[in-house]
Amino acid sequence: CKVVVLISGSGSNLQALLDASAEAGASFSVCTVISNKPEAFGLIRAAEAGVPTSVVNHRNFSSRESFDQALIAEIDQQQPDLVVLAGFMRILTPEFVRHYRGRLLNIHPSLLPKYQGLHTHQRALEAGDNKHGVTVHFVTEELDGGPAIVQAIVPIKEGDTPESLAKRVQVQEHVIYPMAVTWFAQKRLKMLEDRTQLDGELL
Ligand code: GRF
Repeated sequence: CKVVVLISGSGSNLQALLDASAEAGASFSVCTVISNKPEAFGLIRAAEAGVPTSVVNHRNFSSRESFDQALIAEIDQQQPDLVVLAGFMRILTPEFVRHYRGRLLNIHPSLLPKYQGLHTHQRALEAGDNKHGVTVHFVTEELDGGPAIVQAIVPIKEGDTPESLAKRVQVQEHVIYPMAVTWFAQKRLKMLEDRTQLDGELL
């Protein structure tokens, strides 16, 4: 299974995917990493793993539509089976999302449907929640609203800051993202209308 990963920053989730793809018997390989930011550290991680990279800099485009068209062109050169958003901090156009329907994944640091959007750790703390977590989901036109695939839950502890909580969540991100990509690569995972099917069961 050929996977294209889109990043904007540190790329720790990318690293987890690269590590999983390098294991014996891995069912997917990362064929290219694309960043919208030339300075993203994830580009270095990819290069160190011997994976080709490219930059499609959103600043060089006058509209979201033209940026997304360029991104589609760059991705489709690879003819990937799956496109994985890993800390890709741009909102994608409906056209982009439709183009990759059923083969576009995102990871969002909250227990969706709670806390769509930004600053999720801070919001969970401010709400006084006693647990928090992360969700891998299919991407649909609704921002952070597509069918969920897998979630990991972490406790919120006394004295937690957004940073300490983010760290605890990230450990789990690095477990569940490679897991979901592996399921997809093994053809165990499908998006049906607005539901996820795993091993023939609706989630
Ligand atoms: C992660 O927290 C992920 O949940 C969110 O963006 C962050 C990316 O981190 N979507 P990294 O670049 O993978 O380290």
